[in-house]
Amino acid sequence: MRTTYCGLVSEALMGQTITLMGWAHRRRDHGGVIFIDLRDREGMVQIVCDPDRPEMFAVAENVRNEFCLKIVGKVRPRPAGTENGNLTSGKVEVLCHELEVLNASVTPPFQLDDENLSETVRLTHRVLDLRRPAMQKNLRLRYRIAIEVRKFLDEQGFIDIETPMLTKSTPEGARDYLVPSRVHDGTFFALPQSPQLFKQLLMVAGFDRYYQITKCFRDEDLRADRQPEFTQIDIETSFLGEEEIRAITEAMVRTVFRKTMGLELPVYPVMSYQEAMFKYGSDKPDLRVKLQLTELTEVMKDVDFKVFSGPATTPGGRVVGLRVPGGSEMSRGEIDGYTEFVKIYGAKGLAWMKVNDAGKGREGLQSPIVKNLHDAALAEIIARTGARNGDLIFFGADKAKVVNDSIGALRLKVGHSEFGRSKGLFEDRWAPLWVVDFPMFEYDEDAGRWSAVHHPFTAPKDGHENLMDTDPGACVAKAYDMVLNGWEIGGGSVRIHRADVQSKVFDALKITPEDAKVKFGFLLDALQYGAPPHGGLAFGLDRIATLLAGADSIRDVIAFPKTQRAQCLLTGAPSHVDEGQLRELHIRLRNPKAQEA
Ligand code: AMO
Ligand code: AMP
Repeated sequence: MRTTYCGLVSEALMGQTITLMGWAHRRRDHGGVIFIDLRDREGMVQIVCDPDRPEMFAVAENVRNEFCLKIVGKVRPRPAGTENGNLTSGKVEVLCHELEVLNASVTPPFQLDDENLSETVRLTHRVLDLRRPAMQKNLRLRYRIAIEVRKFLDEQGFIDIETPMLTKSTPEGARDYLVPSRVHDGTFFALPQSPQLFKQLLMVAGFDRYYQITKCFRDEDLRADRQPEFTQIDIETSFLGEEEIRAITEAMVRTVFRKTMGLELPVYPVMSYQEAMFKYGSDKPDLRVKLQLTELTEVMKDVDFKVFSGPATTPGGRVVGLRVPGGSEMSRGEIDGYTEFVKIYGAKGLAWMKVNDAGKGREGLQSPIVKNLHDAALAEIIARTGARNGDLIFFGADKAKVVNDSIGALRLKVGHSEFGRSKGLFEDRWAPLWVVDFPMFEYDEDAGRWSAVHHPFTAPKDGHENLMDTDPGACVAKAYDMVLNGWEIGGGSVRIHRADVQSKVFDALKITPEDAKVKFGFLLDALQYGAPPHGGLAFGLDRIATLLAGADSIRDVIAFPKTQRAQCLLTGAPSHVDEGQLRELHIRLRNPKAQEA
């Protein structure tokens, strides 16, 4: 039907008669001449409708935004001074000979180039939102990423094997989405939180190298980087160790960046979990922010200030400083703002100290807490943080988790702020890294027992097997995460391939052998038949696409995403179903009123 795309019309076609199909992005009536910006997936071109062809002109007069049009016309140069350097078609226009309305459009609820649309409007009218060039670009980039992943993995001998969507609950740690069985009264499938167990079974089955780009479902609290259904690039290999798995998956990400965006990622630093928590208070540090935490726990043990000495002398407590170069320019208002900010993370306050003149001892320090600290402690603070005149130091003192969460977040907040950028505390670059040597277990205070940091199939470091009984907190896993600009884009581990080691982990997690049999019996069985050493990793495709697209939220790289409240505004899902459907599924609602509402 058409000879080329609107967005591809250029000087190369000068003088030719072409046929275009597209949508009227905008129609401008310039007293006698009508201009239509015609848009398709490749971009836009200006169509000129002259009154000397009255029949065509009459049609043009009735064209409105988002009408679907066919035009036939001749490519000619734009008049001098009206070129648009931003468009491929910016030097030319098409003089319209024939114009046909293929389909009219009702008035759209918004202008496609409105930059200030609320997300609710965008998600409700997603089809129109997706017509916007930015969204077209994002989804095509996402596709390119997936293609490059497939090419790379195929070349490395991986094969794509599909795993079930209707399955048993998997242990990724979130709530499951359940699907009731009609055939088996009272039973439920779970949608997979990941293909974890199946990919391990495929290794036992001898496939050696598996991958899949697949949906995963997790009913968890949503954030900018989380969706209830999201896409993993899921990978598993046999007979490769931790470092080899990291090397191959790092090479994959490198290739994707190069092929899709022409970007060369720098060398990945490899950082232990301990070091990441110690220096950044986070297991996914954003290395673009040039601020670090300074450990002050030892220093604060003997000060006469309970706020610091309390956590410093309590097991599991931590005291840190965060030196902000140039921070003494911050106003009281800004500091108060940060104090409110850290409270979101459970901090009880935010002590601070401005270093006006370090040479003058305590006289040169301005702070509500200087009076509470002895000279030696003050000197240690300056020495350890390396503070210079003009700097500010924030302090966090509490349980280590609260300090890490709050001061870790403060580090990002300050680094990303206008202030941080103006002081050079933020480097605009790609900052990937590996975080390795995660602990096997973390103590779950609420449940009163240990839980798996990654998942229960992760292997302990060689020689750490026995720590599982004696000191679970000290047991380090062969687990690794890939982090990019402060986002966890992938995570994986070497797996346990021996049934006896797997049982030990279940013991440590207080999963009884009976429970293990019910939940994971099929895996334990398989491990008995000569299971090979194996391991792997899964990337969040949505997150990688978001970062590469420079988008703010993963919803901008998903065609039909859910809201923060796990709803689809376009279709209205989730929605009520009728009584007959429920009866067939053997379900009676606990709160029938909700159904009527
Ligand atoms: P994990 O749970 O770390 O590991 O998930 C792997 C990667 O998936 C992405 N991701 C998400 N993306 C969007 N929304 C979500 N709700 C969401 N949850 C996770 C992240 C994360 O790094 N089976 C293991 C992998 C393995 O061990 O091989 C797993 O699922 O980018
Ligand atoms: P207070 O003695 O409670 O008035 O606190 C003195 C200073 O310490 C104030 O600036 C508080 O914001 C700060 N502060 C209080 N609790 C903490 C804490 N847990 N960590 C860091 N600073 C705190």
